Amino acid sequence: MTDRYAVIGNPIEHSKSPLIHQVFAEQTGEDLEYGRVLGEPGQFDQAVSEFLANTGKGLNVTVPFKEDAWRLAAERSERAETAGAVNTLILLPDGSLRGDNTDGVGLVRDLTSNHGCNLAGANILLLGAGGASRGVLRPLLDSDPKSIVIANRTASKAVALATDCAGLGAISGCGLDQLEGQSFDIIINGTAAGLTNEVPDIPNNILRPGGWTYDMMYGDKPTAFMHWGQSHGASHALGGIGMLVEQAAESFFLWRGVRPDTAPVIAMLSKQN
Ligand code: ATR
Repeated sequence: MTDRYAVIGNPIEHSKSPLIHQVFAEQTGEDLEYGRVLGEPGQFDQAVSEFLANTGKGLNVTVPFKEDAWRLAAERSERAETAGAVNTLILLPDGSLRGDNTDGVGLVRDLTSNHGCNLAGANILLLGAGGASRGVLRPLLDSDPKSIVIANRTASKAVALATDCAGLGAISGCGLDQLEGQSFDIIINGTAAGLTNEVPDIPNNILRPGGWTYDMMYGDKPTAFMHWGQSHGASHALGGIGMLVEQAAESFFLWRGVRPDTAPVIAMLSKQN
């Protein structure tokens, strides 16, 4: 019987995950179907049970259910614990669920494997202190940077997030208005500012000449933060399509034990955009 997987979220129509996983399945010869589930608020657990009862083997989880998935998982990876959120549910042989979070490894792989960025020893600025930033912290810290500064419009949230991760590496938190005079090798945007086509209010000169910028968001056109990078001396001003495909590949690997080739899928989605 064909194994079933799906992405659950609300809204879900726009999700590119079914297309990505369909290509992965064709490429690797894995016998699986991958669909979409529109979850209703307050009905997440029920929707997951129904899906699994009908040959479902695992789910990707997106907004607004990643915290619900974290709660539902009987066991969780360390990176999911740090994230406080789960984007991948895996049905274990005993019928229980394992929760993982592949967002951070997706970001790190895109930067390092796909683009040759060296995170080891780098001074990293992470903008934003919401779920997107929290979700990528552990794999970033595991990449051995010299330091990570989390900066947020609301400073207290950045300080609280850095304090949560204090034992994991050189990490600190501050307000966007406290960045003056500092310089970073890599600036990663995890804020929601791009939703309104804005960029976080950061000083003009905080990217080292030839440094990198990465916007975890992606869209049909280059994002506002990609433009910021291009006009502030970045050697690479990247958007989030590579991260999207790499997080999907890691989920696919967790479910199937097979690593798909991400390059053609990134090329396909980049061309569509
Ligand atoms: P997510 O889970 O997607 O990260 P979130 O928890 O709502 O979403 O967090 C959104 C993040 O984007 C926050 O860090 C938010 O800053 P505040 O904590 O100060 O609200 C940040 N953000 C949203 N719009 C922004 C803007 N226009 N400029 C700078 N930061 C912004």
